Amino acid sequence: YGDRFRTWQGNFADLRDIPEVRGENKANGLLLDLGVSSRQLDAAERGFSFRGAGPLDMRMGPACPFDAAHVVNTWAESELVRIFFELGEEPKARRIASAIVKRRAEREFTTTIDLADCIEKVIGRHGRIHPATKAFQAIRMTVNDELGSLERAMEASLDVLKPGGRLLIITFHSLEDRMVKRFMQHRAKPWLDQPDWPAPRPNPDWCLTLPVRKAIAASDAEIRINPRARSAKLRVAELLDPTVSPR
Ligand SMILES: C[S@@+](CC[C@H](N)C(=O)[O-])C[C@H]1O[C@@H](n2cnc3c(N)ncnc32)[C@H](O)[C@@H]1O
Repeated sequence: YGDRFRTWQGNFADLRDIPEVRGENKANGLLLDLGVSSRQLDAAERGFSFRGAGPLDMRMGPACPFDAAHVVNTWAESELVRIFFELGEEPKARRIASAIVKRRAEREFTTTIDLADCIEKVIGRHGRIHPATKAFQAIRMTVNDELGSLERAMEASLDVLKPGGRLLIITFHSLEDRMVKRFMQHRAKPWLDQPDWPAPRPNPDWCLTLPVRKAIAASDAEIRINPRARSAKLRVAELLDPTVSPR
């Protein structure tokens, strides 16, 4: 692609700052491929994985204000329970948080293996999935404020797309997919209605149309060659012409 291809390092939440999509040069399309990459998971020194020993880091970029060690060694037990339940959907959140707090009173956690072993000791190992998977996901999502970034990125996308431009978002987490679904479906409704309203009202946020209404999942064939695609969901929306919608 020669000089037609450029890279820009930053958070999707700061899309409006990308020089290429400012002013007249709006985007024909945006693809947000969320979550963590295989390269990050496989690089022990980035601290995302319990498979190889690495520092408890998990930051996707240098702008993150704190790392995983900070969360694990300093956050209140109740906050750890909350993130394990909400972001990890971990039913054993309380037991894991309590074990972490007990262990850190004796010695702080410094490595991924150290934390993974502590979690495995308290909840045991059943099946092929490592028992620390959900807790690690929760900590990673916290360190990178992944849900907050997604909300800000979706808002920003409406300012940087051309009319007719498409927003495509791939998520790997049910909370993220729910956020994307709500964001797109709400903005694709020309009218809002509630049982206690005398009549439907125009939706001031109407600005999208949905070329595909449902989330698209990876095919069985794709999952066979790339098992990490099994939880991926793709949603698509198209920006309407502002002369049609109020935005
Ligand atoms: C599933 S991976 C896909 C990477 C790439 N598309 C590929 O196929 O190799 C997701 C990537 O997006 C990055 N990422 C996740 N959330 C982000 C955000 N809010 N802003 C910028 N990058 C983000 C992660 O650091 C990771 O490298």
